[in-house]
Amino acid sequence: MKIVIASSEAIPFSKTGGLADVASGLAKALHQDGHDVTLILPHYRRLTPPHLVGEPLGAINVKIGEKQAEAHLLRGNMPGSSVRVVLVDKPDYFDRAALYTEKGHDYHDNCERYVFFSRAVLDAARFLNLQPDVFHSNDWQTGIVPALVKTEWRRQAGCETTGAVFTIHNMAFQGKFPWWDMRLTGMSWEYFTYQQMEYYGDLNLMKTGIVFSDVTTTVSPTYAREICRPEYGYGLDTALALRGPRLIGILNGVDTEEWNPATDKYLNTKYTADSFQEGKATNKRELQQEMGLPQRAEPLLFGMISRLTDQKGLDLILAKAEDLLKADIQMVFLGTGDIRTENAITELAHRFPQKVAVRIGFDEGLAHRIEAGADAYLMPSRFEPCGLNQQYSSLYGTPPVVMSVGGLADSVVDTTPETLMNGTATGFKFSTYTPEQFISAVWRCVGCYLHDRMGWKKLVENGMRRDWSWKRGATEFVQAYQRAIQLAKT
Ligand code: ADP
Ligand code: GLC
Repeated sequence: MKIVIASSEAIPFSKTGGLADVASGLAKALHQDGHDVTLILPHYRRLTPPHLVGEPLGAINVKIGEKQAEAHLLRGNMPGSSVRVVLVDKPDYFDRAALYTEKGHDYHDNCERYVFFSRAVLDAARFLNLQPDVFHSNDWQTGIVPALVKTEWRRQAGCETTGAVFTIHNMAFQGKFPWWDMRLTGMSWEYFTYQQMEYYGDLNLMKTGIVFSDVTTTVSPTYAREICRPEYGYGLDTALALRGPRLIGILNGVDTEEWNPATDKYLNTKYTADSFQEGKATNKRELQQEMGLPQRAEPLLFGMISRLTDQKGLDLILAKAEDLLKADIQMVFLGTGDIRTENAITELAHRFPQKVAVRIGFDEGLAHRIEAGADAYLMPSRFEPCGLNQQYSSLYGTPPVVMSVGGLADSVVDTTPETLMNGTATGFKFSTYTPEQFISAVWRCVGCYLHDRMGWKKLVENGMRRDWSWKRGATEFVQAYQRAIQLAKT
């Protein structure tokens, strides 16, 4: 199958969160399965390491509002894979210090930047003669792609049945812009209705992707159900419920070339399920040293790597941190985002310098070293479409403590005597978002670590031996693509 995947970020070219891991991981897995895959990304010149940028492929003229603007297409080099990557180079839009937001403010022209990019995806597909069977776009940044496929692309001879699949990674970010930005899309005002692109007077690019796609996917089966309800749908629950069987949940996989403790390039000491005890002990010591914590084997070291937003449950951790820190526990945080949360965890580290260490910022290598060096992982998200760190944690022998929501509910099996016996337990879950429920799950984790060494070993091995790869997810995506092509025909 010929597949074009459009994403605003993908590792190792650019990244702010899980979307980057997913775009590359899925593209590589589909390519490995023999599909003809092209991954199209913006070229963030200042942020992409130059050795990842290959030869020029040509120039295209892209319509943006009333204007035409030129973009250059460059080949991207995906390390360790021959999947085709195309970078859209347009410095006035993408050569900036960050992807979407700088110093707490979204770039004022985000709508223009990503409508331009979305149009460039279709123009690049035409220019490079890719003849895709399906366009797969992701989140609001490329939400207009399905609309362009339906209203423009399919009018070309031979393109009548090209499918459009749209994946929702997070309903909390919808790409809402003032109505006058509709002009930028170059689409007719007839589509600016509440059934299509309009949302309470604004242009809504996430809604556009949902409504126009043949098949809408999201990143876990539980989240697919949750977003049809007002608590999780962020105002689009009705639009989502109306999709019926056209909305499906496919749990994200893990790019096991990037995330694998046996081969991880960011670790001095690599390990497997058979050598995790020594392997993790060494990584723990190194992590304690890197973060300036006392190098002791005894404490249970919790790790957390996160965008610091409302979503991720830092308020639960902060509410119970003092209680927790009465026990022999250490905590390592890596994150950036909301300034108040950054300050609150930094202050916690100042108050408990022997127990808590914080790094504010984005650091891919440290993220890997935390997964390897921590004993257990905290992910008490208020909501979580899929979540990748709980999967990485399991794979690195670092059982996660999670709120049972979205993809966390689907990917973590709670530890009970039964699940330990039958070899399925991978972590600790709580089901109501309260500090009390959270801390009781943490105490269960601490209790198991301290008092049931055999049980803990089993838990770690279960997580490390489970298949977290994209194999299953890639197959489910191919089925979604086939369904989209089928629906495009009708
Ligand atoms: P989300 O996409 O909501 O942020 P995910 O769990 O799906 O959550 O993915 C987060 C990804 O971003 C993981 O790969 C995680 O390691 C990475 N990440 C988040 N914050 C940082 C950070 N400060 N430094 C390095 N990596 C980070
Ligand atoms: C979003 C979600 C996260 C998901 C990621 C990749 O950022 O918050 O849960 O894992 O996208 O799909």
